[in-house]
Amino acid sequence: MKSKFITLEGIEGSGKSTNLKFINKYLDKKNISYVNTREPGGGPIGPKLRSLLLNVDSVISPEVEMLLMLSDRKDHVDNLILPNLNEDKWVISDRYMDSTIAYQGGGRQIDLKKILATASILNLPEPSLTLLFDLPIDVALERAKQRGNLDRFEREPEVFHQRIRDSYLSLSKLHPSRIKVIDSSQSKEDVEFQLLETLNLFFKANG
Ligand code: TYD
Repeated sequence: MKSKFITLEGIEGSGKSTNLKFINKYLDKKNISYVNTREPGGGPIGPKLRSLLLNVDSVISPEVEMLLMLSDRKDHVDNLILPNLNEDKWVISDRYMDSTIAYQGGGRQIDLKKILATASILNLPEPSLTLLFDLPIDVALERAKQRGNLDRFEREPEVFHQRIRDSYLSLSKLHPSRIKVIDSSQSKEDVEFQLLETLNLFFKANG
């Protein structure tokens, strides 16, 4: 099978990182070589952009925030995502373009058409599969709080996170064949079972 680009999406505390381990094990069993990466921060200039974006002392307008996220993404795509896909390695990215739509569109309320128009000049590749980890915001935010220091996004009020969740769910309805919703309010075993079924179906469809 040709190398694939898979993205993980969801609100804060939705369990993306925990489930990444399960996805890695699944790919290992299939003898697939892959790289794990994340946004913001996956490309060469990414770490600097990431600390700027997450630092609670940064005062950034929604538009500048969107432009920084897109700059980070272009750097990531050109220097890490595409080179790996071209070498037949799969790329698993913790967050990608749907995050900008959900956070800067839903959360910060930037007009979606403006985000898409700006992103369109970047020639960004579309993921083959996006796993959207979904759960109610109160459960997710409680989990995020337990991880310790809250970043600039995690400190936003509940309504901000609710808009992000709603935006993700609308996106999944717009792109049902790419975006698969995983109910991550379930137990670890149940979530893993959903993931297993979703990955099996993806392999069957692309085999
Ligand atoms: P991170 O610590 O990676 O959060 P998480 O573990 O929840 O993925 O921080 C990334 C933050 O950046 C997260 O709050 C979402 C936000 N973000 C955007 O607002 N827009 C984007 O395009 C991306 C990629 C991330």
